[in-house]
This record gives sequence, C-alpha cells and structure tokens, in this order.
Amino acid sequence: MKFFIDTANLAQIKEAQDLGVLDGVTTNPSLMAKEGIKGQDNILKHYVDICNIVDGDVSAEVISTDFDGMVKEGEALAELHPQIVVKVPMIKDGVKAIKYFTEKGIRTNCTLVFSAGQALLAAKAGATYVSPFIGRLDDVSVDGLNLIEEIRLIYDNYGYETQILAASVRHPMHIINCAKIGADVATCPLSAITALLKHPLTDSGLAQFLADAKK
Ligand code: G3P
Repeated sequence: MKFFIDTANLAQIKEAQDLGVLDGVTTNPSLMAKEGIKGQDNILKHYVDICNIVDGDVSAEVISTDFDGMVKEGEALAELHPQIVVKVPMIKDGVKAIKYFTEKGIRTNCTLVFSAGQALLAAKAGATYVSPFIGRLDDVSVDGLNLIEEIRLIYDNYGYETQILAASVRHPMHIINCAKIGADVATCPLSAITALLKHPLTDSGLAQFLADAKK
C-alpha cells in the first residue's frame, strides 16, 4: 500500500519523505489555507515546492465548480510539474472534467467521495485515484471502512484501474484496516504514520537490550 501525506505543511512533508516511506502528497484548499498560503501565484509556487520535496504524486485541487473553469485550472496545474495530479470534486461537471483530463493524459484524483456509486462514476470517467473520505463518514456514524470494501469489490469485479486512495484518515487503525481491505493508497496526517512506529514492547525491549549491551 502506498502512503501519501495529507498536508500542505512543508516541514511535515520533509519529515515523512526523510522517513523513507512516503509515496506522495494530497492537499486541498483547507490544508493550503491552514498553512496561510494565499494568492494564485503563491499557491502555484507552493505546489512546486511540494513536488521538489517528495518523490511521488502531488494532488492539487481545482476550486472551480463548472466544467470550463475546472478544465482551465486543471490544465494550468498539470503544466506546473509532472508529479501533479489534478484533484476534482465528485460533482456532475467534475465527472465530465475527469473524462476530459483522462483523454488528454492528465492524471486526476476524484475527491469528496462518500458512496460506492460515486466511486463507480469516477472509475468510469477514468480517474487515476478515487478519494473516499472515511473519517468524515465515521463522524456521521457511517462505517467509512465499509465503503472502502464496497469500492474494492466493484473495482475488482470489472478490473477498473482507478486506485482507491483512502482519505480523511484519522488514526493508525484506519491505515491498518485500509491495508487489510486492499486500499491502494492511504493519505494520512503525519501523526497517523508515525503512530505506526509505536509499541510499548519495542520500547521496553530496546531499553533492555541497551542495558544488557553495557554489561
Ligand atoms: O484528503 C481529504 C482529507 O484531507 C480530509 O480529511 O480530516 O478534513 O476529514 P479531514
């Protein structure tokens, strides 16, 4: 399973890259705003800065909601850097834009996916990635992991190549369960990735080995 980091924070992206397990980055307008990145030029420069840190795909989201606007924005984003994947919302014009980008050879990430039907449409349009938001489903008492299972089954039934990118991942058990189900990618906060490192028996075992090494 690929690990993406879900942030626009350059320090966190560097830390995950240095760990040696990072396969890509996802951003969204909220994450860019959280880092105080404002103005079109600064936003575009920030995407390039991210691409220069990480070896892998970097999702950059369009903010237009009409087909023409999404196409214009997405083409400009794709021209920024070969690692850019254009992130498009799961709306009617978004599906049309994904189909357009697919035919042009521009890679896409269909975002804000909350149902198997939406994921099926994204795959039929040729999305490179589909992003089901599992944490936000859990927040409203719907099992987010069940959606990943449904999408896995549907994509495997028909051989769709769209990669399942589990998003809105909140904690290490989300990552582990996504891996068990067969999500292709999990995009996670740095805290969820580093939490995978932790086990008290590792800490106590290491302390014992180090103490014994001094004997
Ligand atoms: O990639 C989408 C993700 O950023 C949403 O996460 O935690 O805002 O639900 P969250």
